[in-house]
Amino acid sequence: MSLKVAPASLPASYDRNGNQDPKSPTDHKAAVVPPASLPAPLEQSRNPEPQPGREPQNSACIVGPLALIAEITHRCPLHCVYCSNPLEMKSRAAELSTAQWISVFEQAAKLGTMQVDLTGGEPLARVDLTELIAAARAAKLYTNLITSGIGLTQDRLNVLAHAGLDHIQLSFQDSQAAPADEFAGTNAHEKKLSIAAAIAKHHIGFTLNFVVLRGNLARLEEMIALAENLGAQRVEIAHVQYYGWAAENRAALLPTRAQLDRSLEIIQAAEARLRGRLRVEYVVPDYYARYPKACMGGWGRKLMLIDPSGEALPCHAARTIPNLHFENVKTHPLEWIWQKSPSFQKFRGEDWMQEPCRTCDRRTIDFGGCRCQALMLAGDAAATDPVCSLSPKHELVAAIVNRVNSAATHSMGGASAPIQVTSSWIYRPNPS
Ligand code: SF4
Ligand code: FES
Repeated sequence: MSLKVAPASLPASYDRNGNQDPKSPTDHKAAVVPPASLPAPLEQSRNPEPQPGREPQNSACIVGPLALIAEITHRCPLHCVYCSNPLEMKSRAAELSTAQWISVFEQAAKLGTMQVDLTGGEPLARVDLTELIAAARAAKLYTNLITSGIGLTQDRLNVLAHAGLDHIQLSFQDSQAAPADEFAGTNAHEKKLSIAAAIAKHHIGFTLNFVVLRGNLARLEEMIALAENLGAQRVEIAHVQYYGWAAENRAALLPTRAQLDRSLEIIQAAEARLRGRLRVEYVVPDYYARYPKACMGGWGRKLMLIDPSGEALPCHAARTIPNLHFENVKTHPLEWIWQKSPSFQKFRGEDWMQEPCRTCDRRTIDFGGCRCQALMLAGDAAATDPVCSLSPKHELVAAIVNRVNSAATHSMGGASAPIQVTSSWIYRPNPS
């Protein structure tokens, strides 16, 4: 479990970046190379923990990215209200070719990258996915497919597995079809259930992903039971991170404190009950944290994201930061981008930090939090992430949280609790 409950003196805050749990989704899997028999992939979550021995702080000693997040397309049959894709997505015409992606995988492997997360959009929308997986595997990368499952048939699954797919993370929006389809903006839940059964029969790692939010937390126990019944080896339950389309819908997505407290009890009970059978991992919402996440494990430290057009980014939302230019793998070698490009250097190390981060003991743990969140909330990408309780701008986050809690009209009520239906969701559209 990833969350860390804060000391009693701060009962309402949660530190998601402590070190107690070596299996935490925030620790970025210090074990590093997943052997073939190990189903769990390295995490691509935004908050991996510092990894001993991999503490690069400047370009002179930087080692390659631990994992490559390959957003191979922004096309997607779903329209999730919490999608972290950028508001301006890349069109099909702008996508890298098969050969260009294969070159990226080979360059990454030479840099020391160990895992590729094939994601999107919906990666199954690429007809060359089999070729991409085979090439990544040939480059000795651990291959993890992050998918809605829409577009996956038994036959295609067989082909992908044969090509060398190591792991599938299948996303669900809810345990029940009606709310799941509402959050996805399309009817997808039943199809996911049928493909999940097929995945479980394969000899590949299988994780069920749930994104939790105010309108579905009442069914947290059902979600865990679903993961159990569908034969997953691991269930990752992550609160929405408020970037991209999720930021647009934040007011309707943010859970209440009562919901969060109840969810912690449920997760702890599930962990105890399922130990050894189903690995349960939980990522709490930033806005209730005492300290921020080490977003992406620190800017340009562990992860590199390549968008569908080949732009190399230190994180999902980096493009929102003004006056930063991001290089493209079509014009620059991956190694140079990672080691030397100004965008990847921008927030490496500590020189850019302001107070209180500059002199804070936690600066080598969380690296000042998330640059994009600092920009979004405080208007300054170099500021202390305002979700940090030590930030001079923390009252901005406290006000958002207080608004949600004072307006809350329902709390966890078990499976029969009413979902919050909003007629004003902003759905993610499909790129052209
Ligand atoms: Fe992290 Fe900065 Fe907050 Fe310290 S002040 S905990 S370094 S965000
Ligand atoms: Fe956290 Fe960009 S999303 S640094």
